[in-house]
Amino acid sequence: MKSTAVPDPGVSPVPFYCLAAITATATIALSPFLLTPMLPRRIFGALPYQHTPRDKLNSAFKLLSKHGLSPESSSSHSKRLKFVDLGSGAGEAVLMASRKGFDALGVEINPTLLAISHASRLFTQTSPGVARFSSSNLLTLPYSSFDVIFLFGVKPLLSQLEPKLISEVKPSGHLLLYRFTLPSTPDYKKKYEIVDRDGELTLYRRVNET
Ligand SMILES: C[S@@+](CC[C@H](N)C(=O)[O-])C[C@H]1O[C@@H](n2cnc3c(N)ncnc32)[C@H](O)[C@@H]1O
Repeated sequence: MKSTAVPDPGVSPVPFYCLAAITATATIALSPFLLTPMLPRRIFGALPYQHTPRDKLNSAFKLLSKHGLSPESSSSHSKRLKFVDLGSGAGEAVLMASRKGFDALGVEINPTLLAISHASRLFTQTSPGVARFSSSNLLTLPYSSFDVIFLFGVKPLLSQLEPKLISEVKPSGHLLLYRFTLPSTPDYKKKYEIVDRDGELTLYRRVNET
């Protein structure tokens, strides 16, 4: 009698593939939150990722505009105001700045967040300004060319940033801080004045020395 070969179902690999796919997706999705805090803070000054909510960004650009920091007032390319987000996360502030007409740069240490920023730029309007993203350490970037420096969540880095904020920001350059303020040290008091506040946003101007 001929025996009919019954395929042995064994263990189906499908659940394993599903599990692997779910794990890979979760790892990629969570890496902005997992990877940055794991970077050695003493070397990279790494901070966890949290983004500025859109309504706060809208308020931030209204505050800038209220104080004449609106690129509409300097529409020619050569006079386009320069904006930098130090630790630009997923790039929302930079993309909004470029839509407002700034020459905007985001510096970010986390490669996943940088990839998200580059991808968002492809699918978002950036004109009339320019949006660029750089894989850089905010502790080593030169600050002297920027008109507006935006910072969120760098409080743990302030002592490392202090020499740069004191000596590199150009006279009349502005700092826009979200969720924290500058410490009231004599050096900061001598170099910065508060221009305005809106909730957790504080706008500072680097004073002109005579
Ligand atoms: C609180 S998040 C702010 C994100 C974004 N600026 C926003 O407001 O939506 C801080 C960001 O700084 C980045 N970061 C931390 N240390 C950094 C460093 N040394 N150089 C560049 N980026 C850094 C983190 O990866 C994180 O994305």
